Amino acid sequence: MSNLKSKIKNKNAVIGIVGLGYVGLPLLTNFLKKGFKTIGIDNNLKRISSVKKNNKKLYNKNNHKNRKLEITDDFSKIKQCDAIIICVPTPLKKNKKPELKFIELAIKNSLPFLRKNQIISLESTTYPGTTKEKIINIISHNKELHIGKNFYVCYSPERINPGIGNMNPLKVPKILSGNSNKCKLIGKILYEEIFDKIVLMNTIESAEFTKLIENIYRSVNIALVNELKIVAQKLNLNIHECIKAASTKPFGYRPFTPGPGFGGHCIPIDPYYLSYISKLKGFNPKFIEHAGNVNRFMPKWICSKIFEKNSKYKFIPKILIMGIAYKKGIDDYRESPALEIAKILNNRKFKVYFHDPHIKKINSNEKKFFTNSVSIKLSQKNLRSFNSTVIVTDHDEVNYSRLQKNSKLIFDSRNVYKNYLFNVIPV
Ligand SMILES: NC(=O)c1ccc[n+]([C@@H]2O[C@H](COP(=O)([O-])OP(=O)(O)OC[C@H]3O[C@@H](n4cnc5c(N)ncnc54)[C@H](O)[C@@H]3O)[C@@H](O)[C@H]2O)c1
Repeated sequence: MSNLKSKIKNKNAVIGIVGLGYVGLPLLTNFLKKGFKTIGIDNNLKRISSVKKNNKKLYNKNNHKNRKLEITDDFSKIKQCDAIIICVPTPLKKNKKPELKFIELAIKNSLPFLRKNQIISLESTTYPGTTKEKIINIISHNKELHIGKNFYVCYSPERINPGIGNMNPLKVPKILSGNSNKCKLIGKILYEEIFDKIVLMNTIESAEFTKLIENIYRSVNIALVNELKIVAQKLNLNIHECIKAASTKPFGYRPFTPGPGFGGHCIPIDPYYLSYISKLKGFNPKFIEHAGNVNRFMPKWICSKIFEKNSKYKFIPKILIMGIAYKKGIDDYRESPALEIAKILNNRKFKVYFHDPHIKKINSNEKKFFTNSVSIKLSQKNLRSFNSTVIVTDHDEVNYSRLQKNSKLIFDSRNVYKNYLFNVIPV
């Protein structure tokens, strides 16, 4: 162990990151910046070439030439790595059960190249028991590797908040646990190289559970405030004024903001990981899934308002969706409520267009719900051609005053326009 410990402390350790997405790529960059040799492994060749092409600063001549950085699909490179951090997706299957095939494949491909004195850390969000089931139990079949003695396994969930520019992710305390005290110690030494604070937990299962608590807390509170928004509207009350007033209470209340639902690869998905394992243990946690259902209902509710106001037209209405990313400041539209809104509008034969300063083109299956899969320009002529605009994502780059002046009717799901305006309907 001392060898691995000193290799990390002396920055001689090679760090391998498996899965170069929203989580893996910044992690790789941070280890690289601290002077570690890093190897990024992804099994998607398109992803590899896009990382090389779009990250000129990262994949520059120096890092590449002096062999500080490699980006590859070659799992045999795992042998060179002292630390292997797995950041692969954990989506849901169609039946809303956990899809763990990406973790299983990452381990299967790494297995032939694992050796003594390595540490593996899983960062993917998942249900309690996954690290044991899919990593520890599999590695234990290798008679040479003794976890806790000459090989180390940790779980450390990622807690990034995409799009929040002013928060340095390395200042967010890092949750960590390991399969034994030695695993925890090596894990702590590894992550301390880049993170300010490590929060050590007793068991890997508790660390896995903690990440799910965080995301379920958000899902449930977002659902609650979205439901309250509908109630407030039925009572002709301004929900935002009420939330602001409630926030003056110095204890026992934390404000959440209503919106068009939820999106991304975490909040709509992760709660089902916990309800899955809970059901397996004989308890059906209704609250968690109910929150998901409320949040998923919001696009339908918003569209019902759009239909109400557009029913007068004898022709097919033309709608602009303002912002399709699942939240402001980012280019990620996975599970975005904008896609569901586009689908519902398209099913009613509306012509659906979008503008998003971060997303030039929709490449996913959902592009079929849009009349044009390319972000349209916000020219005065374009804006005036729409019968309605619905603000789904309140990106800072958009000139909302100009939008309001040139739009016939705006459905505002993000409270962009705080005061009454004749052509703005809060939804
Ligand atoms: N995106 C976030 O904001 C965020 C925040 C916290 C936690 N997480 C969690 O982190 C994990 C990763 O999320 P992400 O958003 O970075 O996903 P992502 O889809 O952006 O990236 C995952 C990458 O892994 C690659 N990959 C998939 N299977 C692989 C395999 N077997 N071997 C090698 N590479 C493989 C994919 O090609 C892709 O490039 C998920 O569990 C997610 O829930 C994400």
